[in-house]
Amino acid sequence: MAIAAYLSYGAEDSAAARDIARELEAHGLPATLTAVDRAQAILDARCLVALISPGAEADEAAARDLAFAIANGKPIVPVLLKDVSAEGVRPVLDLQNRLDAREGLSNPVLSAIVARVRAFAEAGRTIAMLNIKGGVGKTVLAANVFAAAHLELGKSVCFIDLDPQHNLSQFFLPPEERNRVRADAMTIYSVFIAKGPLSTPRENFARMPVQLNRARGMGKQRFDLVVGDERLFEFTLDGRTERERADALSRFHDLVAQLRAKYDLVVIDVNPCATFLTRCAVTASDHIVAPVRPEKYSLTGLNMLEQVTRQIRGRPLKSSEFSVLLNGVADRPRTRGGYDVDQATREEIAAAPFFGSALLGPAIPYTTHLRTTPIDRYVVNPISLTAMKQFAQRMLKESLASAAIDIIKRAGA
Ligand SMILES: Nc1ncnc2c1ncn2[C@@H]1O[C@H](COP(=O)(O)OP(=O)(O)OP(=O)(O)O)[C@@H](O)[C@H]1O
Ligand SMILES: [Mg+2]
Repeated sequence: MAIAAYLSYGAEDSAAARDIARELEAHGLPATLTAVDRAQAILDARCLVALISPGAEADEAAARDLAFAIANGKPIVPVLLKDVSAEGVRPVLDLQNRLDAREGLSNPVLSAIVARVRAFAEAGRTIAMLNIKGGVGKTVLAANVFAAAHLELGKSVCFIDLDPQHNLSQFFLPPEERNRVRADAMTIYSVFIAKGPLSTPRENFARMPVQLNRARGMGKQRFDLVVGDERLFEFTLDGRTERERADALSRFHDLVAQLRAKYDLVVIDVNPCATFLTRCAVTASDHIVAPVRPEKYSLTGLNMLEQVTRQIRGRPLKSSEFSVLLNGVADRPRTRGGYDVDQATREEIAAAPFFGSALLGPAIPYTTHLRTTPIDRYVVNPISLTAMKQFAQRMLKESLASAAIDIIKRAGA
């Protein structure tokens, strides 16, 4: 199996770290104790086990490990060895999966560490639908490509609607149902708010998703949604303090970690442009899917996306962390001024240095089945609104399913 855990600790806790690594290895969970390239070792592991103590706090390399793991969406298992005072580790210690080892690394504590690491090693993958350019099909393809992943490939899927415009929630759910979820403080906004009646306690996060496939006899393969909320716009402007944002980021990562433990795929639909919400999505994701329209400006949008993501993650990126999905191609060549627009876009992206190898073979056709109409239509079972359940053309269903297969492979799901 791939590396299950990277252990981050201060020099004085190295004996404890070795005990934990030995226990993990004994349970078939390979762990990294030391590495020359610490950043790469963290990226290669499914989670980071952070041994928290005053010594670790004072250790600059251990502090860098934590910051890097947070910026790169690595799940963290905090193990509290001794009481600490610093603000810096507080958000990490707030995580649902924290463990108290102040009375020593007893067998129950070691078993709990093994269980937490195993859950992350076997957890689902997180995919962000992202492009700095608007209107390229992030939302409509989130719904339809991952409906294909669910219906054709049997994957359990949970969407998180992280766009204040919450089009994905509007696509699937009628206003009354969205209002009910909002009144129960169970929308994404209640994850971002840390205190007061509008906040959802972390222990309720796993209960937030609303079921979108309500067919009976579905087994345990779910197709669910954490409902969006326009009040998230507060986090796109500068109306919230740094502390409130830090709490929101930590709580959002906790939500994603809890969902990954239950679903094969956690799919985040993100707003266009680069805001704090983009940071939340990018730092929580293993893989980014960027839909692009066949047009002159598509490569500009992709280059912006690469820059924004690199800045957020604080490291050079690999093109294997992205999938570019051409969306809205014509079913027959669209010649304009002597050349085929779809083909020209494909060739331009394929020849580009970074995104060339991220471009998926399948492309999604332009079709009325994916066009949003001004009239809302709601049904008893929301998954029936996706093209996979409608009388859509076979070509559309096939392209959605092959895109899903490729994305899942690239995301390592
Ligand atoms: N392949 C397609 N065929 C027909 N219409 C499409 C297709 N893809 C997207 N659309 C339509 O284009 C519009 C924009 O799509 P969508 O809302 O998914 O984009 P977006 O990237 O999520 O936008 P935003 O940046 O505003 O979040 C919608 O009306 C959608 O129905
Ligand atoms: Mg959208």
